[in-house]
Amino acid sequence: MRDQIVAGNWKMNNDHRETEILLNALAVHSKPKDVRVMVAPSFTQLSQSIDLLKNDSIKVVAQNMNAAASGAYTGEVSAAMLKGVGVTTVVLGHSERRSLYHENNSSLSEKVKTAIAEGMEIIFCFGEQLEERKTDRHFEVVKDQLSEALFALPEAAWEHIILAYEPVWAIGTGETASPAQAQEMHAFIRSLIVERYSLSLANEIAILYGGSVKPSNAKEIFSMEDVDGGLIGGASLNAEDFMAIVNAF
Ligand code: 13P
Repeated sequence: MRDQIVAGNWKMNNDHRETEILLNALAVHSKPKDVRVMVAPSFTQLSQSIDLLKNDSIKVVAQNMNAAASGAYTGEVSAAMLKGVGVTTVVLGHSERRSLYHENNSSLSEKVKTAIAEGMEIIFCFGEQLEERKTDRHFEVVKDQLSEALFALPEAAWEHIILAYEPVWAIGTGETASPAQAQEMHAFIRSLIVERYSLSLANEIAILYGGSVKPSNAKEIFSMEDVDGGLIGGASLNAEDFMAIVNAF
């Protein structure tokens, strides 16, 4: 049985006070035992979040990290720094990092290598732009993203990886991929893993869907055979909405 996962990507939202309010509101809800629940606050709120969730099963995740161990990288945060405050999972490759901060498959493959060497778990994001879907290149784009950033890894390294398919046109737009579109892509991703690695690995890897997941559509999306949960942006900023999504399996 694959892990079922719901992760909230807070992006650049929630200061100290807002983090306290939201996490306290999440903490009062009981969590389903068979769903891994995660939140990804800003770097500045990681320690605070770990402290506030110390008696809760919600896991605190970072939104990014640098590939280097240390050095002259102003404004950056290393894997060791994250682990030092108790964070062992990191989101890598989010489309906003790719489009706004010029991350690409090649630089991401370095981050992935570092994270794995440091024993961290990775939520690896990828997905096509609107133009690429309109011109029917979405499968090719996703294949390239995975091949270039991840497919040089040995099979054993994949125990550290969670995949998150996030079609860029569905992020923050209110336009969700249809459950059929999500299923079609997730099945394609699994077929790529069969081709490159093995059927057993393909069956074990959790593949999350991200892009305008809300309480109103989560159940239908999560009911798809190859969708193992969601990476949630906007709706993760509201405790009731996020918990409704967590309970949508
Ligand atoms: P929205 O849920 O706001 O569309 O964001 C999705 C996302 O980017 C999660 O990483």
